[in-house]
Amino acid sequence: MGSLKLAVGCDHGGFKLKEEIRKLLQEKGYDFKDFGTFSEESVDYPDIALEVARAVRDGHFDRGILICGTGIGIGIVANKLPGIRAALCHDTFSARASREHNNANILTMGERVIGPGLARDIVNIWLETDFAGGRHARRVQKISDIETSNNDP
Ligand code: RB5
Repeated sequence: MGSLKLAVGCDHGGFKLKEEIRKLLQEKGYDFKDFGTFSEESVDYPDIALEVARAVRDGHFDRGILICGTGIGIGIVANKLPGIRAALCHDTFSARASREHNNANILTMGERVIGPGLARDIVNIWLETDFAGGRHARRVQKISDIETSNNDP
C-alpha cells in the first residue's frame, strides 16, 4: 500500500501504457490523480507535461509519472520547471539510481520503447526507492542553486 500522492499524465502516444500504470497504482493502493489524456486522440505533450510538473512543483503531489511515445518530449518539458527533476528510465537500474542519486520527482517513460511488464517493474522500483542523501544531497543542492542563481548558467 503506497502512501505517496502521485500525479500521472500522458499524451496519445503514452495512453495505453498510462492505463496499465493506472491499474498498477490502483492494485498497490496509491493515491493518484490522472491528468489525462483519456484517449488515443492526438494531443500536444507539452500541455500535459506542464500541468503535471506544475502540480508536483507546487507540492500538491509528492511525485509524478509522465508517459509519451518516447518519454523524451514530456520529460524535456517537465525539466523546464525549477524544482522538477524528471528522469527518463527504461530500465530498473536507472529507475533506482534516479531516486537514490538524483532524487527524481518525475519518472518519464515511452510506450513505444518498452513493454508494460518492464514498465511496471520500473514504476514499482521507482516508487519504492528513497533518496540516498549524503554526497548526493550536495549535488542535488547544486542543481537547485543553478535554478535560483541570477547568473546565466
Ligand atoms: C507523439 O507522436 C510523440 O511525438 C510523443 O508522444 C513523444 O514521443 C514526444 O517526445
